[in-house]
Amino acid sequence: MERNKQKVRKYKNMKQKNQHYSTQYPDVKIKVYSVPESLKQHLFIFKTITGVFSFKKLDLGTKVFIEHMTIPKKQSVLLDLGCGYGAIGIVLAYKSHQSTVYLIDINRRAIWCTRENIKYNLLDRTNKVITLSGNYFKPIENKNIKFDGIYMNPPLRNGRREFLKLCEEIPYFLKPKGLFQFVIKKKMGADYVLKYININFSNIFDINIICKRSGYWVFDLTLLD
Ligand SMILES: C[S@@+](CC[C@H](N)C(=O)[O-])C[C@H]1O[C@@H](n2cnc3c(N)ncnc32)[C@H](O)[C@@H]1O
Repeated sequence: MERNKQKVRKYKNMKQKNQHYSTQYPDVKIKVYSVPESLKQHLFIFKTITGVFSFKKLDLGTKVFIEHMTIPKKQSVLLDLGCGYGAIGIVLAYKSHQSTVYLIDINRRAIWCTRENIKYNLLDRTNKVITLSGNYFKPIENKNIKFDGIYMNPPLRNGRREFLKLCEEIPYFLKPKGLFQFVIKKKMGADYVLKYININFSNIFDINIICKRSGYWVFDLTLLD
């Protein structure tokens, strides 16, 4: 009897550890965390929960990305794709308050956190911030929305191929001269991705690395005329 109970406990622990943040409905036990982070000279406080990417502290790749991403000065339409608990999109909305910012994630808990974090961190700026849950561009399919900027810390645990496939869709959702910026850890194959996009997308994008910091590369792909 006791042995069976131990087996069940072991199985539950394994399930919790292995559960992937890209799941639509994570079923790990809910625990709420508070993640304070100073970004672009402002203190943000993010509410996070188990089952969401990097719920205990802001991912270093996200931090490096936020500090180096391009924040438009003019009124723009921006997208944080795979927003997690919303850090990238919320900083964009905070710093570019004239812009409209979309945040999309497949994980329902991530979207719940993002909505809470928008209320808490953006206060009166919330009317130009739109959260949607679903598979990448699916929630805006057929809505004819085009972005000046698409920003992303991609879920590479899903496999590099999924991300490279997604890159093919990006141009259809960008305005002329729109930009696609993302971060990749060197150890997760940043140099491979750079080579791949240079070979396959150099006729569509002007491709640059904005920074290499703490083992992360920040990519800038700007749509050519
Ligand atoms: C590496 S995490 C980055 C999260 C957040 N942007 C950050 O920097 O903290 C990637 C995010 O992509 C989301 N994701 C994975 N597959 C997705 C899909 N098919 N459609 C939309 N979002 C997805 C995951 O749920 C996760 O929140």
